[in-house]
Amino acid sequence: MTRSPDTGFHDPGLALGGGGVPRHVAIIMDGNGRWAKARGLPRTDGHRHGLDALRGVIRHAGERGIDYLTVFSFSSENWSRPPAEVSFLMGLLRRFVQRDLSELHQANVRVRIIGEREGLEPGIRGLLEESETLTRNNSGLTLIVAFNYGARDELVRAMRRIAGEVAAGTLAPEAVTDQLVSSRLDTAGIPDPDLIIRTSGELRLSNFLLWQAAYAEFFFSPVLWPDFDAAAFDAALSAYAARERRFGGLTAAGR
Ligand code: IPE
Ligand code: IPE
Ligand code: MG
Repeated sequence: MTRSPDTGFHDPGLALGGGGVPRHVAIIMDGNGRWAKARGLPRTDGHRHGLDALRGVIRHAGERGIDYLTVFSFSSENWSRPPAEVSFLMGLLRRFVQRDLSELHQANVRVRIIGEREGLEPGIRGLLEESETLTRNNSGLTLIVAFNYGARDELVRAMRRIAGEVAAGTLAPEAVTDQLVSSRLDTAGIPDPDLIIRTSGELRLSNFLLWQAAYAEFFFSPVLWPDFDAAAFDAALSAYAARERRFGGLTAAGR
């Protein structure tokens, strides 16, 4: 952990006092089912409209100068939903990649996928790999799609990898540091989220980015995900801009 020598504050490079535009925003896109139910529609219609909301949010994130946008699209626990809903969601991901990938690539977006790929249908796996490979050299917004993602699963896989390296003698136990653990997670190389938004009024993390969220700011929006538009996103960004981040230290004013 870096500290500036004179004050003992956490490195001001980390935007002490908060404010400004978050470098990394992560979103738990929740409320599709309730959105549909309120209209007497099947849950799947909510997911379809949710995809439109996602397209708008990606565009808006780029316009606002956000560098990293992570979206929770399918959790490792979502397999427990009815099979018809699960297969609809798989189809939606497939359509998203097939229809939107070239446009994202043209917009200079770099795509990263986090989550467990083992056990996914080979077709889906291929599309995930294709989206990362095609966009790997882009320099605009990094879009991180959390798919078949669960933070505990991610941590368990990282711990197994680390334990394997220690057992093989290629890693000393003392070399297991904060940074080393981060580098073994699916999010290796991606800065921690500054702002985590959850829509639909639910107040929980649901196994999202547990390690990475250590010093994130949270914003809970009552808006259901399919209705989450530029104005709703801006409300979260202005709330963030007014936050004071301390990282365990003191503010510049010494309070
Ligand atoms: C979020 O909406 C999308 C996924 C979890 C895939 P939900 O489907 O959870 O919608 P609600 O929470 O039932 O309204
Ligand atoms: C979290 O939402 C997962 C995604 C948004 C993909 P859920 O709707 O699955 O979370 P719970 O079950 O309400 O906690
Ligand atoms: Mg939900």
